Amino acid sequence: MNQTIREQFAMLRKRPGYTYLDSGASSLTPDSVVKVMDEYYLEYRANIHRGMYPDSEYASTQYENVRTIVANFFGCTPHEIFFTFGATHGLNMLAYGLEHIIEKDDVIVLSELEHHANIVPWQQVARRTGAILRVIPVDKETYELDGNFEKYIDEKVKIVSVAQVSNVLGTIQSITRLSQCAHSVGALMIVDASQSVAHMPSNVRELQCDFLVCSGHKMYGPTGTGIVYGSQEALEKLRPSMFGGDMIETVEFTESTWADIPYRFEAGTPNVGGIIGLGEAITYIQSIGWNAIEQHEKEMTEKLLSVISPYARIIGPSHSARRTGVVSFVIDQIHPHDIAGFLGERKVAIRAGHHCAMPLMRSCDLMQGTARATVGIYTTEEDVMHLDSALKELQTTFG
Ligand SMILES: Cc1ncc(COP(=O)(O)O)c(C=O)c1O
Repeated sequence: MNQTIREQFAMLRKRPGYTYLDSGASSLTPDSVVKVMDEYYLEYRANIHRGMYPDSEYASTQYENVRTIVANFFGCTPHEIFFTFGATHGLNMLAYGLEHIIEKDDVIVLSELEHHANIVPWQQVARRTGAILRVIPVDKETYELDGNFEKYIDEKVKIVSVAQVSNVLGTIQSITRLSQCAHSVGALMIVDASQSVAHMPSNVRELQCDFLVCSGHKMYGPTGTGIVYGSQEALEKLRPSMFGGDMIETVEFTESTWADIPYRFEAGTPNVGGIIGLGEAITYIQSIGWNAIEQHEKEMTEKLLSVISPYARIIGPSHSARRTGVVSFVIDQIHPHDIAGFLGERKVAIRAGHHCAMPLMRSCDLMQGTARATVGIYTTEEDVMHLDSALKELQTTFG
């Protein structure tokens, strides 16, 4: 399947021998996504929601259609979806918009494996309100979250916000259990699905979460796009935190009233072309289907793990069960930046550093960071073999 898929990505089609293993940072974009964005910019470019002329009406329809595509993808209604400029933007909107439900000594529960985008906004809320951040630790042997969630989630907890998949370890969390636990004490459950939405189904009813956040550029969509799902009930609790045009119903100099949910969360002109592209990216994922995606990525992850292990220590589960294709590794005596630089010169793109997860790096005693290779739908066996020969050369060169 993946040779055909590679053909659908200009970046891969035009660069034979290029191995892209950095989809965890940002995935490549298929031609079909670029095409619909081009159509918008070249054929019916107009602002949405305001114009009474055909191009604006058509652009509005295309933009609103994406809300329906996303709703089908997550198993919710279109009115439970709003668009952002990325996951970071979405998580900040939740943090600002829910601050009013948090009081001094209340607790916000995060996990040790969170990305900075799901730590810093809550840390700032805690500072402003006097709330406390409580952190579910990661077991350093299994790299799983401590599964005794009940220990961390008591009556003081107002919010639980956890990544469905770790962007460092690749581990998959038991979100449904966490949601049930959060709800048993009346807390809201937020899922950072940035690393999962392109790799496994994320049905919000099954996950039983109140909010789910992701960015478009990790799901084969354009940069500058993101999604927030909120259940109707949860969105009613969320206050707008970006103000201006399009999100209002009435405005006076002293007071304003808000547009209906979800429009009150989309202030100003959104990334219209990008959102139209994001809709196409989701359609693209659906056209391949979860069975094919999961089976292929599992196979590639197994191969990646077995190719990397002889050279390096894997930071994360060493088997493909309950993990995705985000594979972090360290090699004694070689800095992760040197690994990534060396591989980059051999046309193998991976990432290196702390992956915006400094607390996790600190607790795993990995302050130099890790090298990280991630699988995407276009990853082939040749890519993995290419990585293998580059790692072999690295070993010879660095001794
Ligand atoms: C788990 C996780 N959350 C949040 C983000 C932030 O996403 P963005 O930079 O698109 O806002 C990332 C990006 O790497 C991520 O991996």
